[in-house]
Order: sequence, then structure tokens, then C-alpha cells
Amino acid sequence: MLIAPSLLSCDFSRFGEEIKRMDKAGADYMHLDVMDGHFVPNITFGAPVMKYVRSFSDKTFDVHLMISEPLRYIDDFCDAGADVITFHVECDSDINATLDKIKSRGVKSGLVVKPKTPVESVFPYLDKVDMILIMTVEPGFGGQSFMADMLPKVSALRAELSRRGLDVLIEADGGIGAGNIKACADAGVDVAVAGTAVFKADDPAAAIAQLKDICA
Ligand code: DX5
Ligand code: ZN
Repeated sequence: MLIAPSLLSCDFSRFGEEIKRMDKAGADYMHLDVMDGHFVPNITFGAPVMKYVRSFSDKTFDVHLMISEPLRYIDDFCDAGADVITFHVECDSDINATLDKIKSRGVKSGLVVKPKTPVESVFPYLDKVDMILIMTVEPGFGGQSFMADMLPKVSALRAELSRRGLDVLIEADGGIGAGNIKACADAGVDVAVAGTAVFKADDPAAAIAQLKDICA
């Protein structure tokens, strides 16, 4: 299991240092939650801020766009150093145009599915993406409870990818910790986002190691 700490739970007065701390703690990806106060009822940060923290780690910057019009901002996030950009299948931008734009910039792309959205909504795009992110909480805030009833969506996606022979990573995001990460792994999750479970731990390195051990 790859572990992607969600920086949403970090101390933003020390954003760069927090990224460095997660890098040293053994994070595989840096998960950056971008919210616009419109697609979700919360506002975080955008590409100008991300650009300043990019140099604090060489790890994969996994940018989760919770914004209504991702297509308008793809160039900005690519310029700021995104390695993977995921955006919601429920957004207002044209999905194919947005995926094509990300690909044209040589960046990996993915689609995100909210809890109430059927996973089949992303099936038409599976041959164009590098990753699918299944939300296991309603997007907008860290620290919510994991929705175990989202795991059948992961299994269905895993089965569809196998059936079509596609190499697409499955990421899960929201409420993941030691008590449920094994169930995520068993359902077919490759990358687990963890905000609270890593940042609220006394020893983030031990927390990341434990999450990996549970799945190994
Ligand atoms: C929620 C974000 C998540 C969240 C994860 O909208 O996409 O990445 O911050 O945090 P925890 O692990 O605390 O649920
Ligand atoms: Zn996220």
C-alpha cells in the first residue's frame, strides 16, 4: 500500500516544513487538497501556494482538485509542479477536454468519485486515466468517519480494470487509519490518503510504517 498523507491536516504556517517532515516520515505521495468554496463548502489553497512548497520534496505531488471548473486551472497546477492531478467526475468542466489538457502537459491524470456517485460514472474514461480516486467521506473536510460502504465501489472498479486489462491505480480518501486500511487493501486500493491518522499521531513515521505493515 502506498501512503499519501493529506496536507489538509498540516500546520499551514509551516507548509514547506510539513512536506519535508512527511517526506522524511516515509510518505509515498504528498496529497494536496485544493478546494474552491463552491464545489465543496471549504477553501484551502491554490497553485500559487503550491509552487512555493514544491521544492520541499521530490516525492509525487498528488493534487486533488475539489473545484467546479478544473479545466481553467490545469495549466497553473502543471506549472506549479503537479505530478498527478485528479478532479471530480461531478465537476462542471468537460471531462475529456480536461483529461486531454492534463495529458498534453505530460502530467498523470485521474477522476474522483464522491460517495453518492456510482463508480460506473468513470468507466467510460478508464482507458484515458492513470488513477481513480474513490472518496470514503464527503469531500470538504478532514477528520470525518470512514464510509465502509464505499468499498464495494473499489471492488467493482478493480474487477472492471482487470476485465479490461488496464493499469490504473485506485486511491481511496477519507477517514482512513489503522482500523480500516486492511479492508481498503483487500478491496483493491493501491494508494491510501491519510490526513488525521498521520498528522495527529505522535510519531508520523511510525504511523505510516504501521499503516503499511497492516497491509503487507
Ligand atoms: C477531504 C480530503 C481528504 C481529507 C483526508 O475532502 O479530500 O484528503 O483531508 O483527511 P482524513 O484522513 O482526516 O479524513
Ligand atoms: Zn483529498
